[in-house]
Amino acid sequence: MPPPGPSAAPGRYPAGALAFPHRGLLGIGELQRHEILFLLDEAEQWVALNRRPAKHADLLAGLTIINAFFENSTRTLLSFEIAGKRLGADVVNMHAAQSSVKKGETLIDTAVTLNAMRADAIVIRHGSSGAVRLIADKVACPVINAGDGQHEHPTQALLDALALRHALRARGREELSGLVVTICGDIRHSRVARSNILCLQALGAVVRVCAPPALMPDAIAAMGAQPFHDFDTALRGAEVVMMLRLQSERMEGQFVPSEREFRHLFGLTPERLARATPDALVMHPGPMNRGVEIDSIVADLPDRSLITTQVEMGVAIRMACLDVLTRRVRGVPGWGADGAHGDAGGRWV
Ligand code: NCD
Repeated sequence: MPPPGPSAAPGRYPAGALAFPHRGLLGIGELQRHEILFLLDEAEQWVALNRRPAKHADLLAGLTIINAFFENSTRTLLSFEIAGKRLGADVVNMHAAQSSVKKGETLIDTAVTLNAMRADAIVIRHGSSGAVRLIADKVACPVINAGDGQHEHPTQALLDALALRHALRARGREELSGLVVTICGDIRHSRVARSNILCLQALGAVVRVCAPPALMPDAIAAMGAQPFHDFDTALRGAEVVMMLRLQSERMEGQFVPSEREFRHLFGLTPERLARATPDALVMHPGPMNRGVEIDSIVADLPDRSLITTQVEMGVAIRMACLDVLTRRVRGVPGWGADGAHGDAGGRWV
């Protein structure tokens, strides 16, 4: 069955490759608002395809995608694997535990090796901020950042925006502009918080962040987000509450007295949620620590919890990214290889 046609709205963005003139996707920080909207609109066709019984498109047949995960992951790796396979690509997963990194190979050597295997796209997750860019600079193909240290996790922010857009549309609201979003938890160590602040603000939302002082980054105000240390105050008027877990693996030393204390002050309980707007939506990127940053009853609220929608939208967003970033190598008209639009003037951004 052919996939549903592209839903990207003509006229909303420049034609061809100028709609997304980037070689890879390293962070939301490098994207313009219309480029974010372009990816969200492109993902709609994949949301529709993924809801059909036959979920296969052959756009990427013959292409090789390597998922190089230097950090443990279940849902993100699975999501990228499913996305690549649904588009017909050959998908290979490289786990750090099995890799030469454990044998002392440098990141550059790993990059050179991956490059020599002639992958058509490489998806990378790494524990160090900036490691993905280092690899991207050494390989010829597009690179997608699947999370680098405390820096960025762009596809998570995009899937969150898509999940929100779907939920708002179901309530008769078209856009995210003016939407009040409170992100609460370990903001300091969270790449999800960082990418979401950038993405939500680009789409016009008002972003509040809430954390104990030790878990609030110093530069938060410079990012344009409003910082709060009191969760009840941060929830007043919030239309969306996004909860984040404590990133213990990234903490050196003790940042919170105890999980019990953290839950008491910053856990999303039904009583706390009642302080937000009456129908406030609940989000969490996973993995969740039920009973710590979020209570089960809140996480499972029908019509208000977007947590499973977030997972669903993740596959569609990753399909859109893989499609868009391989258009040049596939010779899609207007995407560089035919010279119709060049690649944003001969150079990738
Ligand atoms: C997030 C991550 O890895 O940064 N999870 C994810 O991508 N599913 C958030 C987290 O680990 O808490």
